[in-house]
Order: sequence, then structure tokens, then C-alpha cells
Amino acid sequence: MENKNIVLSGIRATGNLHLGNYYGALNKFVKMQNDYDCRFFIADLHALTTHPDPKMLHENVKQILAEYLAAGLDPDKNIIYVQSDVPEISELYLLMNMHVGIGELMRTASFKDKARKALGIHSDGDEIEKEIIGNQTNQRVNAGLLTYPTLMAVDILIHNADLVPVGKDQEQHLELTRRFARRFNSFYKTEYFKEPTNFNFGGNAVKVPGLDGSGKMGKSEGNCIYLIDEEKVLRKKVMRAMTDEGPKEPNSPVSEPIANLFTLMELVSTPDTLQHFKDAYADCSIRYGDLKKQLAEDILKVTLPIRERILEIQGDDEYLGRVVRQGAERACETAAKTLREVREIMGIKKF
Ligand code: TRP
Repeated sequence: MENKNIVLSGIRATGNLHLGNYYGALNKFVKMQNDYDCRFFIADLHALTTHPDPKMLHENVKQILAEYLAAGLDPDKNIIYVQSDVPEISELYLLMNMHVGIGELMRTASFKDKARKALGIHSDGDEIEKEIIGNQTNQRVNAGLLTYPTLMAVDILIHNADLVPVGKDQEQHLELTRRFARRFNSFYKTEYFKEPTNFNFGGNAVKVPGLDGSGKMGKSEGNCIYLIDEEKVLRKKVMRAMTDEGPKEPNSPVSEPIANLFTLMELVSTPDTLQHFKDAYADCSIRYGDLKKQLAEDILKVTLPIRERILEIQGDDEYLGRVVRQGAERACETAAKTLREVREIMGIKKF
């Protein structure tokens, strides 16, 4: 792995992967694994900020791991690990927190969002601060949630990553990462940390629409096709996708629900198939039932083989264990080096 740019991304251990995750991120990770020194990890410590059921946490980690492997992430080409398997991250998080202001953390959009939800506040004023500081027994907003960006910065900086492929919702966290790196460097008069940049796949992010007529596919929208969906379930979902009354005259403009189905088709079907249905739309001969049938068919061609691999891998504890142990070993190598050097910079010495 000489001189390749270091790519790092974390995956939150919540819920199953859907087509949006697949085309929006995973598929890109799979392509990147040949050209970069890639490190992907499952962010189980981050998941603790919202108190998952202890019985479920490990299962979720396992599930996500199996899905990523099934979709093509290669443990021999990438370092794939579980965040909590690298204890150096937790220590660096403690050290880094000494250079992070609670004000800047409280102003982070993701924090305000989560705090507001936890406190049941709907407005955007200063109620959050008042509520948090004013009420001693208020533990609904925990310090882990506040320092989420510190932990994320450490995930990135501990590897000295160059590129971080994340979506728009994570851009502010990445900006904070750069700020913490700069601040650390200037405080200790060093150039130790690099400032990582977002890797946005050449600017043309794929937007995968949902099946409900508008907007993107997303877990919380309930409009998802999951990689793990059974054939029957998947067909049913696609057949129920929202449409419209159909074109009334030749070359009518395409409404959003239909445009969304075309967009999905563009991802999974051949160009000829897509053209066939677009032509049929243009000359008003289109039958949405046929369009959906074809779409379901072509989605299944992508998802069914992955589903089979997920089921296979999921049950193979020995393989999963081998993957994460190998990953942790390699991640710890870098992490231990960074931590040693940071301790030294900060003046922590052993007797
Ligand atoms: N916060 C990210 C998310 O919610 C997950 C994450 C944690 C991450 N640490 C990271 C992403 C480091 C990139 C780099 O999706």
C-alpha cells in the first residue's frame, strides 16, 4: 500500500442496507478498494450515544458487517474493523477533547437536532442550552452525544486519512475534524495532523429515489428496497410503487413518481430496457404494470445474489471473526503509532 491516498469511512451500526446505501456509497467503496488504501469500520461506539439495547448491538454490528462483505467489500484489499476493537481510538478521543470547545459542539447541527428531539423542543432558539444547563437531573442529552464530532474526528485523524467519503449530512463533522486538526497543530506548533477532505466521487453523487413518489430512498421514509428483502416482498414493494394516471398525449412531461421509476431503472436495467419504456411513455403505449414488473426483475438480479451471500456470511461466525480480527490488528498498528506520537507531543511520558 505504498503512497496510495488513505480513504476512511465509518458506517453506523443501524438498520439494514438498502438500494440507496448500495448505489450511494457501498458500490463506490467497492470500486475504490483497488485504487486507494481504504479503511472502513463499523462505528459501534458512536451507536452508544443513542443507547441501543445491549442484546442488539453486537447483532447489528454483525449484520452490517455481513452486508458490506456480501456486497463486495474485500477484507484483503481493505482494512475492515469494528471501532471498539481499537482501544487507541478511545484514548485519543479523551486527549482530543482537551482541545474541543463545548460551545462549538453545542452549535453542531447534528447535536442540536438530536438534543432537540430528546428534549421535545421544537423551536430553534436557545431553549436547548437553558434546558440542558438548567436542569441537573436532565440526562436525556448525554456527553457522548455532545462529543460525537470529537470521536468522529479521532476516527479520521488516527489514520491520518486523506479522503473521507461521506454524504452531505456529515460535512459539518468533517469541517470540525479539519478545525480540530488545525487547532492541535497550532497549539503544539507541529504539522502533525493532515486536514482530510471529503471524497465526493467526482461530484456526480447518485440520488436513489424511493418508491413513494417523491424524495430519496431512506430508512426513516419507509420507502426502501433492502438488499436482504425476499423476492416476494421486493416484488410486492415495486408493484405498489406510486405512479400517475399515465401520459394523455404524446411527449408529455414525466411526473416525479414516474421519473423516479426511470431513475431506478437507469441503475439496474440495461440502457435498451430503459429506452424501451421511455419510448413507450412518449407514444403513450406504456403500461406501468409492465414497467414495474421489469424493474422488479432487474432489481432482483442485483439484490438476490447479494441476499444469498448475506445469509451465508451471517451464519459464518468464524469467517466474520477472522475478518474483524485481521482488520483490528492492522488498524491498531496505525492507531498505536498515532497515539504514541500524540502522547509524546502532548508531553505524556512514561517513567
Ligand atoms: N457519523 C457518520 C454517520 O453517521 C459515521 C462515522 C463515524 C464516520 N465516524 C466516521 C464517517 C469517520 C466517516 C469517518 O454516517
